[in-house]
Amino acid sequence: MAQILVLFYSRTGHVASLAEAVAEGVEQAGCEAKLRAVPSLTPSHSEPVGGSFENEDGYLFATKDDLRTCDGLALGSPARFGTMAAPLKGFLETTSDLWLSGAMIDKPACVFASASSLHGGHEAVLQSMMTPLLHHGMVIMGCPYSDPGLAATEGGGTPYGPTHLDAQTLRPHEHDMAVRLGERLAKWSRYD
Ligand SMILES: Cc1cc2nc3c(=O)[nH]c(=O)nc-3n(C[C@H](O)[C@H](O)[C@H](O)COP(=O)(O)O)c2cc1C
Repeated sequence: MAQILVLFYSRTGHVASLAEAVAEGVEQAGCEAKLRAVPSLTPSHSEPVGGSFENEDGYLFATKDDLRTCDGLALGSPARFGTMAAPLKGFLETTSDLWLSGAMIDKPACVFASASSLHGGHEAVLQSMMTPLLHHGMVIMGCPYSDPGLAATEGGGTPYGPTHLDAQTLRPHEHDMAVRLGERLAKWSRYD
């Protein structure tokens, strides 16, 4: 069974909700979803919070082996001044060995994000996550315009990937777009 890594950073739970919806879609498509988080940075912004294997919400922290062994990757981040969050970027910057060995080449990937303002950079954040994945040789997919969420959106949801505009819970179309992209990623991850 193909295994999809749903890798994210989330400080206040919004990205985690989208990650759960992507995982739902992956499993609906008959693949295994492996949800993994990356740790926050300490106030000094230098070292990961040490000694723990999971974040406050119980998500296990990712290892590079999770990346090496996955058949597909969904990567999620909150907006941070229009770009991906530093903890996620920091984790990606530990992956030079995977880049050198070409371990991620041809694996399908998608990205998702959460932001607190409508025009605060949803697409910019998604594109910031795509760049390192392209360097790794991954095959990136977004949300096609056949997805009804793109026409319905009054919150998040872009052709570059699903997003959430901060609220208590995901809006129905935000949830459904994430599920459908999880299904799509799973479908392409089954091809050798
Ligand atoms: C330092 C910082 C920078 C942020 N920059 C942006 C931004 O550029 N655009 C935006 O819409 N929201 C921005 N936000 C808000 C978060 O991206 C937003 O609340 C997100 O949904 C949080 O996700 P989480 O609950 O998974 O941590 C920022 C938040 C922080 C703390």
